[in-house]
Amino acid sequence: MSRIITLTLSPCIDRSMSVPKLVPEKKLKCSAPKLEPGGGGINVARAIKKLGGDAIAIYPAGGYTGKHFNSLLENEEVPVVIIEAKNETRENIIVLDESANVQYRFGTPGSVLQDSEWKKMLEAVEGMTAVNNFEFIVASGSLPPGVPVDIYGQLAVIAKKKKTKLVVDTSGEALKYAAHEGVYMLKPNLGELGALIGADWIELEDVEKIGKQLIEERCCEILVVSMGKDGAKLITKNDSYHFLSPVVKRNSVVGAGDSMVAGIVLALSREKNLKDALKYGVACGTAATMNQGTELCRKEDADKLFKNLIETIN
Ligand SMILES: Nc1ncnc2c1ncn2[C@@H]1O[C@H](COP(=O)(O)OP(=O)(O)OP(=O)(O)O)[C@@H](O)[C@H]1O
Ligand SMILES: [Mg+2]
Repeated sequence: MSRIITLTLSPCIDRSMSVPKLVPEKKLKCSAPKLEPGGGGINVARAIKKLGGDAIAIYPAGGYTGKHFNSLLENEEVPVVIIEAKNETRENIIVLDESANVQYRFGTPGSVLQDSEWKKMLEAVEGMTAVNNFEFIVASGSLPPGVPVDIYGQLAVIAKKKKTKLVVDTSGEALKYAAHEGVYMLKPNLGELGALIGADWIELEDVEKIGKQLIEERCCEILVVSMGKDGAKLITKNDSYHFLSPVVKRNSVVGAGDSMVAGIVLALSREKNLKDALKYGVACGTAATMNQGTELCRKEDADKLFKNLIETIN
């Protein structure tokens, strides 16, 4: 029985392809596209599945692309609660320029999610947490048009009422509202953390102090700050841990953040301590960077990296 729910307000089909060289105005011959179901919470649920766990993904799906999205996710055997939406599920495009080995990521805003639809998503969370013993809700990703910017704050109220731990991975105003209401865990990267506290730039050595301040202000109980190749820090009221990313052959950083969140939450749901959960999260995030395109972490890579990760003190 799963103990984790993920919530994705703006799921998307990720369409990845490559071109020998990206040049303007010319017809370009692309590789056959690879299609994957994406969006923050969807990726977290998919990564948890790959890591041998189970999470139920709640998301809206609409139109022809919505049906296609559902079938892509079904192939991966992720348990789902689908909220029927009137408008089409969005599609994002990722293009690899082979000549420079760089990726271009084109994100679309998505179509309007109606009031009745996002409200049904919150009701679904409330209903599920009332009858089952879920321990974690992971809310991850951007908000589509039509959804109120305080929705993760509204979700935080439900989580507190149901005594469920809410993990939020988002950016901008949506992150501010979640922090304002107070959640179990926030997982910003350095840029998102800067925007949250109104700073243009954050030095690594200041992250711990900023984390303690946010915890003091009851924005979260635990702050995980991911820092790309510098790994991640986990800060609580009394403790702080930092694991560096091991050096690996990096192919694509797409999905690193979602894989990290998946690793942390799965480890915590298996009663691991915070330090080991962070360590597993860093291993999973780094494992994701070893894969091409949008592919999430592989369990065997994450498990291998986990064994060799070393804590750093700073
Ligand atoms: N270049 C890299 N080298 C090694 N590990 C990396 C690299 N980029 C990311 N990671 C791993 O993945 C974790 C999460 O990555 P990152 O800090 O980039 O998150 P993010 O900005 O939220 O990513 P996303 O764009 O997926 O949302 C890092 O803490 C680290 O463990
Ligand atoms: Mg992220």
